[in-house]
Amino acid sequence: MTTAPRANDPQAISEAQRPIWNSAAAAYPDVTAMAVGPMLDAAGVEIGTRALDVACGPGLVAGAAAARGAAVTGIDFAEGMVEEARRQHPSIEFRVGDAAALPFDDEAFDAVVMGFGIIHMAEPQKAFEQAKRVLKPGGRLAFTVWDAPETLTAFRIVFETVGAHIKSEDEDAEEPPLRGKTDEALLTGYLTEAGFIDPTFERLPLVWEVASADALFQAFRSFASVESASDDVVEAIRADIRSAAAKYERDGILHLPMPAILVSGIRP
Ligand SMILES: C[S@@+](CC[C@H](N)C(=O)[O-])C[C@H]1O[C@@H](n2cnc3c(N)ncnc32)[C@H](O)[C@@H]1O
Repeated sequence: MTTAPRANDPQAISEAQRPIWNSAAAAYPDVTAMAVGPMLDAAGVEIGTRALDVACGPGLVAGAAAARGAAVTGIDFAEGMVEEARRQHPSIEFRVGDAAALPFDDEAFDAVVMGFGIIHMAEPQKAFEQAKRVLKPGGRLAFTVWDAPETLTAFRIVFETVGAHIKSEDEDAEEPPLRGKTDEALLTGYLTEAGFIDPTFERLPLVWEVASADALFQAFRSFASVESASDDVVEAIRADIRSAAAKYERDGILHLPMPAILVSGIRP
């Protein structure tokens, strides 16, 4: 079994992550929406399922689970995300809380889903242990992560272009342990270490369609630390993103490969 890496300073990672997500809440891009259906299928979410959406963000996974007829609850540690989720999905219960210390009873859910959340968590092993604790026996966990960074066209175009114009200030900061990790043995090893059985691992060849290069930049602007850049620098970034994105244009829109990985396991 591959031993799961642990963060040296989980608190510092969480303190760095939370404001990023709070400031992204109101203009959250829809790039993760393509993975929701396969993840809900892998977790067995259907009519009547008691489902928990961990790291729910603005609630798109919870919303899709509710549309299937599931009784769903969402939780996220960024208050801004939870406010946005409540605004977008007023009939769903959303709570503020940490995936590493879920405020729910043992065996409270039939399914737990985590869409692109684990890659940002300081203590992924605790999140998996908690997911197992709140699942009833036979319940399923399914989660998604992005595939290898060099394959993620939208992120590559925006963040490489921004990085060429603006030097990042926190290059030495410790990253969440699962950031950029795509190895099957590592990811399924986390699940088996937490006590899940029958892990599955599937690559999802997703392609994100976005209206234009300007819309692409806008989608990730709040993550790209361009607030303090001059108008000239922002214009230069915008122009370079247009050139880098041009080869992905077909029929007037961009088709950007954004492959993901779907992992699942069963609580015995
Ligand atoms: C990329 S967003 C994913 C949102 C949504 N699940 C989706 O699929 O679009 C990552 C989310 O993870 C949340 N998050 C990160 N660490 C967390 C933690 N320890 N506990 C709960 N939520 C966390 C962030 O606040 C953010 O909303």
